[in-house]
Amino acid sequence: MQLTDEERAMADGRDGRAVARAMDLLLRYGRALGAERLVATNNVVASVGATTPFMREFAQRQGGMDAVFSEFSLDSDEVVQIPKIRAFTTHTQLGFVPDEPERMGVDEATVQFYRQGEAFITGLGVQATNTCTPYQVGNLPTRGEHCAWMESSAVIYCNSVLGARTNAEGRESVGAAMLTGRIPCWGYHLDANRRGTHHVRIETPVESTSDWGLLGYWVGDQVQERVPVICGVQAVPNLARLKHFGAAASSSGGVEMYHLVGITPEAPSLEAAFGGAERARVAEVLRFGLAEHRATWEKINATGKDAQVDYVMLGCPHYTLEQLWEAARLIEGRKVHADCALWIFTARAIKSVADQNGTTRILEDAGARVMADSCSAMSRAVPKGTRVAAFDSAKQAHYLPAILGVQAWYGDTAECIDAACSGRWQGRFS
Ligand code: F3S
Repeated sequence: MQLTDEERAMADGRDGRAVARAMDLLLRYGRALGAERLVATNNVVASVGATTPFMREFAQRQGGMDAVFSEFSLDSDEVVQIPKIRAFTTHTQLGFVPDEPERMGVDEATVQFYRQGEAFITGLGVQATNTCTPYQVGNLPTRGEHCAWMESSAVIYCNSVLGARTNAEGRESVGAAMLTGRIPCWGYHLDANRRGTHHVRIETPVESTSDWGLLGYWVGDQVQERVPVICGVQAVPNLARLKHFGAAASSSGGVEMYHLVGITPEAPSLEAAFGGAERARVAEVLRFGLAEHRATWEKINATGKDAQVDYVMLGCPHYTLEQLWEAARLIEGRKVHADCALWIFTARAIKSVADQNGTTRILEDAGARVMADSCSAMSRAVPKGTRVAAFDSAKQAHYLPAILGVQAWYGDTAECIDAACSGRWQGRFS
């Protein structure tokens, strides 16, 4: 790989052992990917916390948080002292909600260890935003900006909606990126890989957030890891719809980038999205009509058998302020059924605004619980005894039956709130 003088100096140890180990990791990683060079980044989304009992034992055995970071975030056998980070870094969601150990099923020792790790990484300069939606809470890269992000639903939003550039990174590569301000230049950092591969035509109304989730789920299933170009959008989708669409497409498939013609920044026209008229002309065409819409609804509801619902989970990806406000409007003056629980997940910064303006109070007076930093899939936590759950997120409906063996219903937010208040699922395809 070609290195700049600055990169060579970091690799040679000018900035200390940790930075040299980080460069070593990036060079091994970049070579394996066939990258010709590194690219500078000042925008990292990372998971580098210490949460598991295994890490706790490792820290006790090997000498603390420097050892944890060396092993798990730099792939370094040598324990190196971790310096202040070089690239702006926000933290992804956590494996549990630290304020709610009982609900999350974690013990006090785990929470204490997490707090120790949090103090360590914030001391390095990491922003403890703890969300899968960094773009909601102060990490909003600009078009063309090179980033190093983890979390599939955030990656697809970053590339597609914001027009910034990232691959789906892992814990080790972001650990190295935050110390060096570099990441291998391959994949979605390069123009050639951002062009469309499949032409998707919407031929049925796609309007609600639930419709956008179903469309994303179908598109991901169809194109897997390629780049769909979608045309026929009737109404410009808002943040929540784009968030749900991307999260679904990156769950049923591995989509990391898409184009909505006339809407997303690199798709002013069909030809531009494909990188030329000829590529647009020969691309495979996929049609999303009423039959596909209905079949996707049936597929995602395939595990839902019993109408009695034990648990309703909202907030995957983490709810926006608008979604919290909408949920509050839907539930105000009603009560969550005694045999059901309603948990809503969001980013901590969003929750603090919702707390301040009274939205949290409306939701919690009705019997919901608003939580920050994690979600049911990440924490593997649901209310005790949950057999049947309902979601307004295709991603969560995709993962929770596989992770926890629950039955899953999928519908819009109003259907989910109705289920929480009646204890029964009455959603239908419409
Ligand atoms: Fe976020 Fe959890 Fe969904 S981390 S995208 S709320 S699975």
